[in-house]
Amino acid sequence: MTGVLLLGGTSEIGLELTRRLCKGRPVVLAARRETDPGPLLDAGATAVHHLDFEAGDLGSHRDVVTRAVELTGGVGTAVVAFGILGDQARAERDEAHAAEIATVDYTAQVSVLTVLADVMEAGEIVAFSSIAGWRARRANYVYGSTKAGLDAFCQGLSDRLHGSGLRLITARPGFVIGSMTEGMDPAPMSVTPDQVAEAVAAEIRGGRDSTTLWIPGRLRLLAWVMRVVPRPVWRRMPR
Ligand SMILES: NC(=O)c1ccc[n+]([C@@H]2O[C@H](COP(=O)([O-])OP(=O)(O)OC[C@H]3O[C@@H](n4cnc5c(N)ncnc54)[C@H](OP(=O)(O)O)[C@@H]3O)[C@@H](O)[C@H]2O)c1
Repeated sequence: MTGVLLLGGTSEIGLELTRRLCKGRPVVLAARRETDPGPLLDAGATAVHHLDFEAGDLGSHRDVVTRAVELTGGVGTAVVAFGILGDQARAERDEAHAAEIATVDYTAQVSVLTVLADVMEAGEIVAFSSIAGWRARRANYVYGSTKAGLDAFCQGLSDRLHGSGLRLITARPGFVIGSMTEGMDPAPMSVTPDQVAEAVAAEIRGGRDSTTLWIPGRLRLLAWVMRVVPRPVWRRMPR
């Protein structure tokens, strides 16, 4: 079993997941700032390396992944956990901010997933979609649109990887009570970062093929109801 690469090395969900996967394996945290390696070493990681990673610097993505392969002797699990919620109200007036959300949450994800699928030969890649992309809401349509695009990309990439030995796990969490949503009122069926991490880790341990995971699983039912809510009602939904 080879190394774990976390892109978005300070992500709350990403670090929870990496902690569950790192025993006996080297870890690379690719991030804009360094993270205390202590918890991962305590969880059994054989080494924790830092690589500078700015998602918006698309030209650097292949170098970051190549460097992670060199540091670990091969990446067996890649977790793509960087992202921003952004400020919807600001993004409605400030096109630079809208484009920043689109770049980090869609373009950079597509770029890095393409590199990972090209470089990795076996193991798993984890990508984070969201219920926000299932049906765009007036209250967060900029972020939601990036997740819709990313989710569509992941469905296609999953089919491309079918039978290859490399699989893609597309996580579709609902509202996660954590750093990204700090100060916001939790939505129905909210989960915590460790619940998201546990669901993905269980799939990594037990599954074989690419899959899409609703987290929690019962969110799947709510999602189908969401699709049929009439537009005049949907328009007034909170984020
Ligand atoms: N939290 C939720 O409610 C929720 C729900 C569904 C899906 N998700 C998705 O799950 C994933 C992980 O979320 P989380 O809750 O773990 O978020 P988080 O704790 O806020 O972590 C986000 C990570 O993204 C990094 N990042 C942001 N912009 C970056 C950039 N330009 N370049 C490099 N790194 C950048 C952050 O780095 P810095 O520390 O440097 O800012 C941080 O490491 C995201 O894709 C998110 O959209 C989250």
